[in-house]
Amino acid sequence: MRIVVIGATGHIGGYLVPRLVMAGHEVFALSRGLREPYRQDPSWQHVTRVVVDRKGEAADGAFGPRVAALNPDVVIDLVCFTPEEAEELVVGIRGHARLLISCGTIWVHGALTATPADEDADLTPWGEYGVSKLKIERLLTGESKTPGGLPSVTLRPGHISGPGWAVINPVGNADLSVWEKLARGEEVALPNFGLETVHHVHPDDVAQAFELTVARGNEVSGQAFHVTSSQALTLRGFATEVAHWFGQEPNLSYAPFDEFKVTMTPHHAEASYEHVSRSPSVSIDRARSALGYAPQYTSLEAVREAVEWLYDNGRLNFGSNRFVDTHSAAH
Ligand SMILES: NC(=O)c1ccc[n+]([C@@H]2O[C@H](COP(=O)([O-])OP(=O)(O)OC[C@H]3O[C@@H](n4cnc5c(N)ncnc54)[C@H](OP(=O)(O)O)[C@@H]3O)[C@@H](O)[C@H]2O)c1
Repeated sequence: MRIVVIGATGHIGGYLVPRLVMAGHEVFALSRGLREPYRQDPSWQHVTRVVVDRKGEAADGAFGPRVAALNPDVVIDLVCFTPEEAEELVVGIRGHARLLISCGTIWVHGALTATPADEDADLTPWGEYGVSKLKIERLLTGESKTPGGLPSVTLRPGHISGPGWAVINPVGNADLSVWEKLARGEEVALPNFGLETVHHVHPDDVAQAFELTVARGNEVSGQAFHVTSSQALTLRGFATEVAHWFGQEPNLSYAPFDEFKVTMTPHHAEASYEHVSRSPSVSIDRARSALGYAPQYTSLEAVREAVEWLYDNGRLNFGSNRFVDTHSAAH
């Protein structure tokens, strides 16, 4: 198939584009061209790179027609953040593409009632990001169900964690010093009782889900699927496992969120609040049964690969401490 990937060189695209090429598809990779793909891979030689600023062109209604002109069978939109952007793309490619696969988020959920939550549970998001992503999903679902409308699917990743960037740590932010403290056996403060949750996913598992959705095509049109590891982590359990990577017993303290947040910069406190207040723990049963999704990484394996990369690339200082086991998360 001819597949257009919008936002193709980022965390997801770095894994997805090579998968699509290996599966025999003709791939058009759209980005502003500000960076090279996160992962170098020989398959990029077989990809047509298209330099475009989606936001700039969408404002003039020119982006959708540009994508349609590439004659895609499938369009994968990894960087849609407003219903207006979604609408502009849909209008442009309706009647041209057979399927649109859009990247959503598990932040379309609000506070969860029962966990792990299925896709339909507690769709009461807060914050501009989650609210907009839910509006996009609903716009696409409505379009899919309209006769003559464009079929579409939304995939909702958890916290994407892989080699090449700072990932969400056991206090729910991207502060690199938390990994260093856990490695050295130093005290780390957790919010509340440390029993709130984070739900990671490796970008190659996200890419797997997109590839499977391409193959399922219109069978799964109009649906949304969680794309995470099989289980969320509690902050306390997460911190404990990370300390064990270095042969340390965790040195954890606990404080109500308002006391916890003043132990860090406002930037990190805000990120912790965003993650901890949502405490996602979602079910992937629907993706398993409808798509055949089978994540290759647990949350801890995905995070471990990211932390190993940060260490190998000089971003972390563990002092004299090292990973004590020979286990490597790298697949
Ligand atoms: N990060 C997470 O943990 C997380 C969790 C759940 C869902 N998500 C969703 O994942 C998606 C992002 O995927 P990702 O993590 O792979 O993104 P990413 O790593 O930030 O990469 C973004 C990609 O889009 C391109 N891009 C950015 N702005 C563009 C524009 N205006 N026009 C054209 N291309 C543009 C970038 O290349 P250039 O810079 O060269 O243009 C790059 O290829 C979003 O839909 C987000 O909501 C992320």
